[in-house]
Amino acid sequence: MPVLTIQPSGKTIEATAGATILDALLAAGEQIGHKCHGKAECGACHLFVQAGRKSLSRPTRAENEKLDSIPGVGAKSRLACVTQLGEEDVAVELLGFASGL
Ligand code: FES
Repeated sequence: MPVLTIQPSGKTIEATAGATILDALLAAGEQIGHKCHGKAECGACHLFVQAGRKSLSRPTRAENEKLDSIPGVGAKSRLACVTQLGEEDVAVELLGFASGL
């Protein structure tokens, strides 16, 4: 079971491999935008992955295309609703604003 560390709160949760980061965050009661929930269309779930990137599912073309349209995107950017956890621990940084809206 991967441990998901959530910044800036520092909260840690045990997640399920194969679950999306968004579903893990919502199950933990975190506040994160998610208008399209899994379609990589709205960009509201944009966050930064600070550790454990290699264990995550690879970005799809749809995710990359959406990320390209969001201001403030960086090399650590992912869309939580389409990024699946692997077996390794992961740290994510919630951005505190709804990007791409
Ligand atoms: S919820 Fe819309 S892109 Fe993730």
